[in-house]
Amino acid sequence: MPGNPILLCAPQSDLRDRLERELTASGYPVSSVYTPAEAVAALRDARFDLVVADGLAVTGALGSIRSASTVPTPCLVVAPAGDVEARIAFLEAGADDVLPAGWGHRELEARIEALLIRSGRVQPADRSTAPGQVVTFFSPKGGVGTTTLAVNTALLLAGGDHVGSGFPGQKVLLVDLDLQFGQVATHLNLNPRFDIAGLSSDEPALNDSEVAASYLSVHSTGVSVLAAPSIPDAEARVGIEELERIMSLLRPRFDHVVIDAGSRLDPRTLWTLEQADTHIFVIFPEIAALRATSLMLGYLAETATLRARTHFVVNHIFPKELLKTRDIENLLRARPAAEIPYTEVEMIRAVNEGVPLVSSRPSSPAAAALRVVAQTVMGIENRAPTKDRRPERRSVLFGRRSPSREARADRRSRSREAHPPRDRR
Ligand SMILES: Nc1ncnc2c1ncn2[C@@H]1O[C@H](COP(=O)(O)OP(=O)(O)O)[C@@H](O)[C@H]1O
Ligand SMILES: [Mg+2]
Repeated sequence: MPGNPILLCAPQSDLRDRLERELTASGYPVSSVYTPAEAVAALRDARFDLVVADGLAVTGALGSIRSASTVPTPCLVVAPAGDVEARIAFLEAGADDVLPAGWGHRELEARIEALLIRSGRVQPADRSTAPGQVVTFFSPKGGVGTTTLAVNTALLLAGGDHVGSGFPGQKVLLVDLDLQFGQVATHLNLNPRFDIAGLSSDEPALNDSEVAASYLSVHSTGVSVLAAPSIPDAEARVGIEELERIMSLLRPRFDHVVIDAGSRLDPRTLWTLEQADTHIFVIFPEIAALRATSLMLGYLAETATLRARTHFVVNHIFPKELLKTRDIENLLRARPAAEIPYTEVEMIRAVNEGVPLVSSRPSSPAAAALRVVAQTVMGIENRAPTKDRRPERRSVLFGRRSPSREARADRRSRSREAHPPRDRR
């Protein structure tokens, strides 16, 4: 049970009752107050690890609530459902995260957990022991190593002698969600008899986790694989509803679900990214790929409710250093969790032979970098050393400084007109 004390501030009884019920069910001790002034007084009196507040009730008072105790208390604010403007306004006013009304219980838990981890109230390692941790690998550009990273990470998480020490064997499901041309099976030299499209069209299997599990191919390392369809147009059989049912059946059976989400941002990938506990975005150090990543992040910020654990991994698929790590950091405003060095032939040979690099060349520098990726997924901080650790505050990578908060808000509203959020379509 989590045990981190939470202060709830909500004048409306419906909302307060629901939050009290759900937070208590998740094991959090909850104290409730009605007004921001009472919240400030409660925070001065006792220690709370998090404030959950009705956004409309605390507008204007977020600053004083956050700073009422000596160490600022993170605030999760509930916003009206579908009101993107309100969500942005609460974030601008100082909320640490926003929960849209109409949330699901797991979303509430995940957002709280993420805030507690971010504010140092819970150790990430505690969290990675929970079953069914979902990690997605995605890149807006294809051919940059997304599958390579997903497959190698799955093998590392599954542990065993062949990947060296430091990885306790865990039950791993690897899902190939690059539905048209996914190559996870090729990377593992598997010839799957069944695939995700078959499972999606099998109604009895979608109701029974044992039958659903019979669609998995088991690799010699113990990793279970749900393969991509063998023919590209079978992807149409896999809808969000099917994915949801597949995940709810299979997820509890594994410690980790590793998803190769490919390079296409369609409703299925968006849904998957929303379910994930950890996102690994694979970056190829080239301006077009970085621009695509930047566009993708903006789009996701508008349309999806992603959780906090987002990591970037730079993969050097070319021998030359095309962009300085510092420039990449400036653009992403984050330090990559790992950098995979260029391998002249090993990576390609690993794919051709169907034996991932962490197994075939465990002592190579690239395998060492891949281990950092897997450790990141496990919640172990292990920053990649960078040659120059002085990220500038403002990005000048694309020949312009990154915009101010106001300009970002303005751009967000213009972008919303161009890309209406899904719940408004
Ligand atoms: N660090 C690297 N150095 C050299 N080649 C790499 C590296 N990472 C991946 N590759 C190669 O790049 C190609 C594309 O990788 P893949 O994982 O299939 O990309 P994606 O899934 O993004 O399309 C493969 O042939 C792979 O072996
Ligand atoms: Mg791929």
